[in-house]
Amino acid sequence: MLVVDSVSKEYVGPAGTVRVLEGISLSLKLGDAISIMGPSGSGKSTLLSILGAMEAPSSGKVTLDGADPFSLPEPDLAKFRNSKIGFVFQDHCLLPQCTVLENVLVPTLVAAPDSGYIVRAKALLDQVGLGPRIDHLPSQLSGGEKQRVAIARALIRQPTLLLCDEPTGNLDSKSAGAVADLLLNLHLEQHTILVLVTHSAKLAARTPSAYELLDGALVRFDVKSR
Ligand SMILES: Nc1ncnc2c1ncn2[C@@H]1O[C@H](COP(=O)(O)OP(=O)(O)O)[C@@H](O)[C@H]1O
Ligand SMILES: [Mg+2]
Repeated sequence: MLVVDSVSKEYVGPAGTVRVLEGISLSLKLGDAISIMGPSGSGKSTLLSILGAMEAPSSGKVTLDGADPFSLPEPDLAKFRNSKIGFVFQDHCLLPQCTVLENVLVPTLVAAPDSGYIVRAKALLDQVGLGPRIDHLPSQLSGGEKQRVAIARALIRQPTLLLCDEPTGNLDSKSAGAVADLLLNLHLEQHTILVLVTHSAKLAARTPSAYELLDGALVRFDVKSR
């Protein structure tokens, strides 16, 4: 369960204070999926980094499975993030010198050794259609294929929360559609909470609820009326 309670975020800079998020509240359970749209600079990535325990809110609280990650000491916070949260960014962020399989295994390097991870990584790579390519390097893959590896990597530790920041933003429409299909299917199959930031109203229409981030607030976005 992800509970976001009155979260606000402001940045203080030389030009003054920029208030990015204002009193955001939200509650999502396993299996739920939402998408978040909004203009550039509206705070979508800021919200995802707060949900992902990468950045603390200025006020308010986020709890995941009952725990407030920012009440934990730093080593435990890193463990929490690594075990409970999967990220997919617009840029795949793969390690260029590592194979596809090694990239998927990166989040497991800090976990207790478990040969089960290799089996799981191979199964996930099969599911994203890259079974025959596990020994390839990222430079040998297309943009869509790299994003599929990033999705498998995000799911390797069976996270509770899957956060995606414009995961299809760099892809042509055909690969974007295929990557979106995989993401939504795997979210259902792995029973995560999915928060999907996207510029695409077509993609946003595929999650059961959609929001728009406007003036720091999350507003219901009725995809059907657009
Ligand atoms: N670390 C930071 N320091 C100061 N301002 C920031 C920081 N991160 C983001 N911002 C500002 O917060 C606003 C929202 O940014 P962001 O969350 O990246 O928006 P989006 O992802 O919707 O494009 C922008 O005005 C941005 O300049
Ligand atoms: Mg952004």
